[in-house]
Amino acid sequence: MTTSEAFHLDLAAAEVYEKRFVPAVFAEWADVLVDEAPVASGQRVLDVGCGTGIAARRAADIAGPSYVTGLDINEAMLTVAARTAPGITWVQGDAGTLPFADGEFDVVLCQMALMFFPDPLAAVREMRRVTSAGGTIASVVPARLEDQPAYGAFVKLVGRHAGTQAMSLLDAYWAWGDTGRMRRLFSEAGLTIKNLHPRTGTARYTSAADFVSAEVESTPLMNRVSLEQYAQIREGAEEVLRPFTDRHGAVAVPLQALLVVALK
Ligand SMILES: C[S@@+](CC[C@H](N)C(=O)[O-])C[C@H]1O[C@@H](n2cnc3c(N)ncnc32)[C@H](O)[C@@H]1O
Repeated sequence: MTTSEAFHLDLAAAEVYEKRFVPAVFAEWADVLVDEAPVASGQRVLDVGCGTGIAARRAADIAGPSYVTGLDINEAMLTVAARTAPGITWVQGDAGTLPFADGEFDVVLCQMALMFFPDPLAAVREMRRVTSAGGTIASVVPARLEDQPAYGAFVKLVGRHAGTQAMSLLDAYWAWGDTGRMRRLFSEAGLTIKNLHPRTGTARYTSAADFVSAEVESTPLMNRVSLEQYAQIREGAEEVLRPFTDRHGAVAVPLQALLVVALK
């Protein structure tokens, strides 16, 4: 399946993504990914679809910044990435045609990005090409929507108020969350799967309103809902997130993901 959902953000949204979405959701997965790969000191690491660079930064903590490269198609994401970690090499490029030589990296990471690439098979083949013999590719994607009690309820809520443009983006999030589909993808790309398993993390927000504003304002959803639809989604979110809300109003949402570690 191909998708036209590239998760494009402008600079203002990329700043919100780094400030709010990364600590709430993505930082946890970056720690998991570098542990599972695993990344070791002095290894040459590439982070594909790096966004504002959280996985690259975690890898740099272990490998050393001069050994790490982050690649993304979106200049705005890279502008924020370069500000947060100037010692890492940041490269603008397409996952489907990586601008690197064969075997240039020991470890290739790809965190929560594969489902936005127009041709995931071409991208995984490219990851294999730039990995050294015996090297590792480690990736994490959100699991299927039916495995996500809180996000499932939230997506239904958005579906009640917003149109097909918004839903097509939300559908893309979960499109590669099936174990069999991921296994076939990595095998077809010529890789040996070492480990492929689901894991549940926790996205944390100070309130239901905080959840909605991060999920909308730091994603392309912001441009796909009207102000009226956004207000309706905010209003409905309190109820759908109630089972995940503590007595202080803080929201802790389970997020199931699929982790794959494969060898060249
Ligand atoms: C949800 S973000 C994840 C970013 C980052 N890995 C993280 O964990 O925060 C998805 C990223 O994929 C990038 N992306 C989408 N299509 C791409 C492509 N064809 N090549 C490279 N990056 C792409 C987007 O620009 C975006 O930064």
